[in-house]
Amino acid sequence: MKTVFEKSSAEIKGMEMPAPQVEKHIFAEGLLRDGLRLPELSEQEVARHYTALSKRAFGVDDGFYPLGSCTMKYNPKLHEKLAALAGFADVHPLTRADKIQGSLALIDTLNSYLCGITGMDAFTTQPCAGAHGEFLGLLLIKAYHASRGDGARTKVIIPDSAHGTNPASAVMAGFEVVHAGTDASGDIDLDALRALVGADTAALMLTNPSTLGLFEKNVLKIAEIVHDAGGLMYYDGANLNAVAGVVRPGDMGFDVVHLNLHKTFSAPHGGGGPGAGPVGCKKALVPFLPNPRIADTDEGFRFNYGKRSAGRVSAFYGNFGVLVKALAYIVTLGGEGIAQASETAVLNANYLREKMSLHYPIDTSRPCMHEFVVSMKKLKDDTGVTANDVAKALIDRGIHPPTIYFPLIVEEAMMFEPTETETKEGLDRAAEAFGEIVRLAYADPAAVKRAPVTTPIGRPDEAAAARHPVLVG
Ligand SMILES: Cc1ncc(COP(=O)(O)O)c(C=O)c1O
Repeated sequence: MKTVFEKSSAEIKGMEMPAPQVEKHIFAEGLLRDGLRLPELSEQEVARHYTALSKRAFGVDDGFYPLGSCTMKYNPKLHEKLAALAGFADVHPLTRADKIQGSLALIDTLNSYLCGITGMDAFTTQPCAGAHGEFLGLLLIKAYHASRGDGARTKVIIPDSAHGTNPASAVMAGFEVVHAGTDASGDIDLDALRALVGADTAALMLTNPSTLGLFEKNVLKIAEIVHDAGGLMYYDGANLNAVAGVVRPGDMGFDVVHLNLHKTFSAPHGGGGPGAGPVGCKKALVPFLPNPRIADTDEGFRFNYGKRSAGRVSAFYGNFGVLVKALAYIVTLGGEGIAQASETAVLNANYLREKMSLHYPIDTSRPCMHEFVVSMKKLKDDTGVTANDVAKALIDRGIHPPTIYFPLIVEEAMMFEPTETETKEGLDRAAEAFGEIVRLAYADPAAVKRAPVTTPIGRPDEAAAARHPVLVG
């Protein structure tokens, strides 16, 4: 598609600059541009250009978006309006605390709700993404061990089903990563874990439900093993959408947690942002939270600077607009509504999995949580059609591909997360589209391998496209 500059025509006058209201200023030699090339297009052409561009993207508002692990749920539009209120959106982050009491109250209120939802004692909203939160959480753990003179705790145990950001964050925070194996049912192998923990264990990082969409039923036992060895439990809260309002990481034995507000708490995301990955912790780690902390004092909300802080991870207080949306979501749903959302997310995932299993062998013997993983290995062995091909064919049927080839421990993995906001009719349509593709794979595999045929481009070199994007032409 041509850019607005390429569409520009000398024949058309795009805009007229208003007559200057001030006296003409003579700039010094060399400071003047020799021209400003703005595209010349009519208003209608500009409207058509941007409308056409918007149609080349696919978002939650376009159709079903079951991207596993990403919780692409519907985001109420009212939240945008609230985040855009001038009193929130136009505040300069360097404004004095006494002039922004409302914004500070909002962060403080959100922190206390997040404590209630997770069973933690305090929160910080500084991290701007899940991985950013992981990094901070691990710095807290490091500072905690160091404060006890326990600097030998250099290893972080991470299950082989974990999201890639977990080991990356651990390494960035200066730890060595040790992989914990999972057993045939996808749970952490307890005997192997007992053999792994020791005086060098700093923490175990876990998401529950796991990236296989399964609730780790031994979580209390795992926490006991890690705590007995002197390590801490880190909760990757990216999968909280299955359990929010039902169980709390704090009650499962976790000491530190990050949440992805851009998933569970309904901030629109994709394409790299915007996000928020607030971190909560138990009392023993509170002194290490980043500065400044917001304190509710007799004179109102004030900034506090703790002496033992593990450091600051954001210039200010995080992605404030996302915090507004998350609080709006929590307040709108309330405790019961949040639990209901989680239960519906789990119900929808189980329903979709059952429906899809009518078309393709899927093990449904153990209930899944908010997402589930299907291996397309049999389809590949039988027909040559891969998980990637099925994902591409879903695009032609108006469905965003699920996550594919993750988690790494499942061959030809496709991970579906329908979320609670999809209707039964939408789920039925998705299961039918999946079945249609499976049938086509057996009848005419080449047709599936040609997909997608309804998009401007079909099969780019995805690694090259991400690393060397060509944004024009
Ligand atoms: C399980 C899990 N952990 C961590 C992350 C990282 O979150 P973010 O993408 O906000 O950095 C994700 C993101 O998909 C995730 O699914």
